[in-house]
Amino acid sequence: MPVLEINNLTKRYGKITALNNLSLTIEAGHVYGILGPNGSGKTTTLGIILGVLAQDDGSFSWFGDKYGANPRKEIGAILETPNFYPYLNAAENLDIVRVIKGLPPQNYDEILKIVNLYERRKSKFRTYSLGMKQRLAIGATLIGSPQVVIFDEPTNGLDPEGIAEVRTILQNVASSGKTVLMASHILDEVEKVCSHVAIIKNGNLLATGTVGSILSSDMTVEVMSTDAEKLRNVLQESSFVKKIYDHKDFLECAVDQSLDTATLSQHLHDKGVILTHLVSRKKRLEEEFLEITQTK
Ligand SMILES: Nc1ncnc2c1ncn2[C@@H]1O[C@H](COP(=O)(O)OP(=O)(O)OP(=O)(O)O)[C@@H](O)[C@H]1O
Ligand SMILES: [Mg+2]
Repeated sequence: MPVLEINNLTKRYGKITALNNLSLTIEAGHVYGILGPNGSGKTTTLGIILGVLAQDDGSFSWFGDKYGANPRKEIGAILETPNFYPYLNAAENLDIVRVIKGLPPQNYDEILKIVNLYERRKSKFRTYSLGMKQRLAIGATLIGSPQVVIFDEPTNGLDPEGIAEVRTILQNVASSGKTVLMASHILDEVEKVCSHVAIIKNGNLLATGTVGSILSSDMTVEVMSTDAEKLRNVLQESSFVKKIYDHKDFLECAVDQSLDTATLSQHLHDKGVILTHLVSRKKRLEEEFLEITQTK
């Protein structure tokens, strides 16, 4: 049973269609990234599945409706930085969130350690850096040990060090077995943190799958020989070459991802082609992302 099933969600703001027939399935243990440029509908999606926004069409269901209309206890989420109180310390602020959630009193040491705020737990919130504030917000989502945690642009506004720290925390949260859903416009972040990705643009789903499968859906190989024409002819006849792109100093081929360069090199050699240049590379999500988001 999926943790979250989203079926054909559509949301319009006047003339703007913020989400167009969006469908996604998130399974337990996924670290799921919704990746898309600004204005693509990420926050709108999260708002709807958290019940903060109403959709115009479509539906979604949490945990196969096991918890009925009230699954929120199993979901830890913060859409925007919560209104923590400047004059209270970390644990006191978390305790306010706990009360709002209607949960029994608890000790926050573990959460504060997970988000690297244990040493600063006695400092007042107003003395926190932006990164610390963001980490406290992540800590707040962990109150009550929900099965799922949701983050919208968790590293927004942070410096590289702060970004790295938050990413490590997210990875730790994920490896503790929680299902994580996060929205991001940063490809690198999704690539580093997530197991699965949905790429959206203008409210449309463009691609979805494991980060690995999208990452390595095609492999490209650059090749060159002193006899370029013969090389091209042999490549054209090879069953594992899907497409050939011309470059000034080499030919680039899209090939099956299972092909290894030794096999390719041997094959060409058998056909009498001696390579002077051979570079293979897996297609990076970045190229895929740019390609997908620019062409549709
Ligand atoms: N309250 C609103 N009223 C009118 N239009 C809105 C409203 N909220 C969002 N939109 C529009 O809906 C579209 C999707 O917005 P959304 O905030 O979901 O995108 P996003 O992917 O989260 O973007 P960002 O990366 O900038 O956070 C945008 O065109 C946005 O302008
Ligand atoms: Mg947003």
